[in-house]
Amino acid sequence: MNLQKMVTTYIPQGIFIVTSRDGNKINGMTAAWVSQVSFKPTLLSVSIAPQRYTYELITNSKYFCINVLSKEHIDLAKHFGFKTGRQINKFETVAYKFAANGCPVLEDAIAYFECKLVGECEAGDHIIVIGEVVDHKILKEGKEPFIFKWEDFFGG
Ligand SMILES: Cc1cc2nc3c(=O)[nH]c(=O)nc-3n(C[C@H](O)[C@H](O)[C@H](O)COP(=O)(O)O)c2cc1C
Repeated sequence: MNLQKMVTTYIPQGIFIVTSRDGNKINGMTAAWVSQVSFKPTLLSVSIAPQRYTYELITNSKYFCINVLSKEHIDLAKHFGFKTGRQINKFETVAYKFAANGCPVLEDAIAYFECKLVGECEAGDHIIVIGEVVDHKILKEGKEPFIFKWEDFFGG
């Protein structure tokens, strides 16, 4: 088993769509590297490669939203995870509304956490963006969050 698959298998991660809005530009990307990093205040982090279009929208707007998916929406995770919003409007075919501070919330999300950017930290080829939760909601009670399995996206 290669190291990346081993990390994914033995350090469980979820599958999320991280969204942001900068003026009239909206976008979202699939992210597995999401974590809580502080209790008071409640801070969440996402490790994002600096070349992601979503990172550009987050640094401009200072807000992002972590949309939680259930496994039945693996199609959305693939839709948001393999194409960049620099070339296509990923929301053209996806139903959404807006959270309190303007970030898109997917209609199929089971819950979301909208965050205000409070810090960034370089980590190798990624940047850890840290946000304080400013809006949050459970949209579909009782649904289990999607746990990242390597083979669901990258084969055996
Ligand atoms: C299962 C899965 C998990 C991913 N997790 C992350 C992640 O945690 N951080 C990251 O920067 N990119 C991650 N990606 C890659 C981005 O989702 C992908 O590069 C996306 O096309 C970026 O879109 P954007 O340029 O519109 O922001 C993941 C992709 C997949 C399929």
